Amino acid sequence: MNHQYHPLGFTGSRLAQGYWRLAEWGMSDQELVRFIEQSIEAGITTVDHADIYGDYQCETLFGKALALKPELRDKLQIITKCGILLPSANRPEISSQRYDQSTGHIIQSVDQSLKNLQVESLEMLLLHRPSPLMDPDHIAEAFEHLYTVGKVKHFGVSNFSAQQFDLLQSRLDMPLLVNQVELSPIELKHFKDGTLEHAQQHAVTPMAWSPFAGGDLFKLDGIDPTLHHAIANVAEAHQASFDQIALAWLLRHPSGIVPVLGSGKIERAQAAQQALSISLSDDEWFAIWVASQGHPVP
Ligand SMILES: NC(=O)c1ccc[n+]([C@@H]2O[C@H](COP(=O)([O-])OP(=O)(O)OC[C@H]3O[C@@H](n4cnc5c(N)ncnc54)[C@H](OP(=O)(O)O)[C@@H]3O)[C@@H](O)[C@H]2O)c1
Repeated sequence: MNHQYHPLGFTGSRLAQGYWRLAEWGMSDQELVRFIEQSIEAGITTVDHADIYGDYQCETLFGKALALKPELRDKLQIITKCGILLPSANRPEISSQRYDQSTGHIIQSVDQSLKNLQVESLEMLLLHRPSPLMDPDHIAEAFEHLYTVGKVKHFGVSNFSAQQFDLLQSRLDMPLLVNQVELSPIELKHFKDGTLEHAQQHAVTPMAWSPFAGGDLFKLDGIDPTLHHAIANVAEAHQASFDQIALAWLLRHPSGIVPVLGSGKIERAQAAQQALSISLSDDEWFAIWVASQGHPVP
């Protein structure tokens, strides 16, 4: 395991559970309570939300479940995001799909998320995507306010380049602790663009969204056969499953990547947690890297 930095800079779990697809899972409130409980039992206590997930409905579904068993709240670290506007029947006041990172919008969005989730505060707020109109002073004003009134304990970003991260950080008193970006054995872009080196240099935790490439990793038409074979070979050598090796591959990176799981099936989360005890050799790690790149290292 990679413990160079404490994951997430607070007592977050080594794997996080994402709730982007929650509205598709078709769970009753009680089934969702059980899913949250079993995730906690498995050791996955960090949960990842966003205001817009499920057409602005996922936070509310989660909040309803949490209200049925309030004692679960203190066992969770709740992350949510803001900064994207989506036209929706649930938000009739929004007229176009764009970004809004104004001070007023960030504060108002957090107030709404707290109401939806039925909690008093968030462990972490992430700006969902960088905006070409990002004014770091306006964001800093919102973050300082939310921190001061106790509504948000920690802050981070998502899909930010190292430069965008540094620009925002330069206006903040508090450290940005997370950059959540797309990382998987299929999606190598952020392994090569300086994002992970920047994270290591500044003790920022990279969180990996879509660690299984949104499920493409498991589809014959979603993955290159060479990469499939490479992962399957390592899985066989470790007597582990394909998904566990994909996670072990991310976990092996020295930046301390925290994968954000996306399945609503508890047995998949439980299997994922077992990946924490799988340690890939450098030979195995590079076999997957080379297969994904499609050529040997230079
Ligand atoms: N910050 C951002 O911009 C951003 C963007 C996207 C996502 N996210 C976060 O990242 C989280 C994860 O993203 P994701 O849902 O795309 O993750 P993912 O794990 O890459 O993809 C989930 C999909 O893979 C399938 N799957 C998972 N494990 C499987 C297995 N062992 N065998 C077969 N299929 C499997 C799931 O199907 P089943 O449900 O049937 O298991 C689901 O359809 C989201 O919930 C969200 O919190 C953040």
